[in-house]
Amino acid sequence: MPKRTLASLEGARLDGQRALTRVDFNVPIKDGRVTDSTRIHAALPTIRYLREKGARVILCSHLGRPKGGPDPRFSLQPVAHALEIELGAPVVFIPDPAAPGAVTITKRLPRGGVALLENSRFHPGEEANDPALARIYAGLGDLYVNDAFGSAHRAHATTEGVAHLIKPAVSGFLMERELKYLGEALSAPARPFVAILGGAKISGKIDLIEALLPKVDTIVIGGAMACTFFKAMGLETGTSLVEPDRVDMARALLQRSGGKIILPGGAVIAQELSGSAPTRSVARDAIPAGWAVYDIDEPSGEAFAAIVSGARTAIWNGPMGVFETPPFDRGTRRVAMAMAAAAKAGAVTVVGGGDSAAAVAEAGVADQMTHVSTGGGASLEFLEGKPLPGVLALDDMQGP
Ligand code: 3PG
Repeated sequence: MPKRTLASLEGARLDGQRALTRVDFNVPIKDGRVTDSTRIHAALPTIRYLREKGARVILCSHLGRPKGGPDPRFSLQPVAHALEIELGAPVVFIPDPAAPGAVTITKRLPRGGVALLENSRFHPGEEANDPALARIYAGLGDLYVNDAFGSAHRAHATTEGVAHLIKPAVSGFLMERELKYLGEALSAPARPFVAILGGAKISGKIDLIEALLPKVDTIVIGGAMACTFFKAMGLETGTSLVEPDRVDMARALLQRSGGKIILPGGAVIAQELSGSAPTRSVARDAIPAGWAVYDIDEPSGEAFAAIVSGARTAIWNGPMGVFETPPFDRGTRRVAMAMAAAAKAGAVTVVGGGDSAAAVAEAGVADQMTHVSTGGGASLEFLEGKPLPGVLALDDMQGP
């Protein structure tokens, strides 16, 4: 059932109202400064729209995984500063939603004013989805907007519980966009439909492979997870990362895939994971003992690129090698460039969040993709076909 959207609310309904808006400002911070503003930028269309319509915008988010209460290392204060610069307007910081006076602050905000609440995970009730905490947040808004796609797989007080307590409860523009592109890629893909999967471990991707196999025409697999498949094929994998308890499963997947799974024909190997270690490119059946796979080799990169360029829909989740340690970034970069070229040629290219999003950003081609998801775990669960609690809790789209 499609969900009610912010765009579907009449502007007059927003004027003067307090819009409690869940965003995903779980951004990297170093020395008190935000080092990657992608998620802040992604939330701006919703924030700007609400301001233009005269709403009082009360933002809330988690940051990191603090344990046991408030911890200054996980404060959202630096995000408030970054947001002030982006908006060119003051952002009132509310340290505690439960403090006496918090409700008054939200009511006294000027129309179009913006406030940011401190890290929701400073309250144990957040992750426990405690109704008492959800009620406290509900007291801070007259309507609820969820624009935190990256957190939609979490059933927490600010993503799920509160959506039942404030009406209307609608999706913001980013949430709407994420659900549209990821959803359409899965439900009505132009064919050929290709999935490119990578990353370290097959264990985290089994549900994804299972969910995608019946839908896609081809699954290309790189990253260390390919090594578990190599092992299942009876190949020597040296000191590569292999999950021994998943080898049988990898073998079964290969047998059931009907030839849809394509593995790299060769790899870049080294004796240690270091940018200065000597490397060799070898065929996948020539990995010597004592060496480990850290990237796909160049011919595999070209073969994968050719498959991507033949696709009309391509979704990508997970790097092809240890891309944060050059020269083991080449395979990932090759795929990023192939995705960009495919998009230019008219294909729908969707990048799951997390590492693959970082890789396309680093390769300088993020803006050439049809869609780069801001969700890591959330996009993975969505592509696995799992319901996202933060989405389910929103109002259903009403009839005309
Ligand atoms: C993310 O970065 O994937 C989201 O913000 C969710 O964070 P979490 O995995 O700590 O819940």
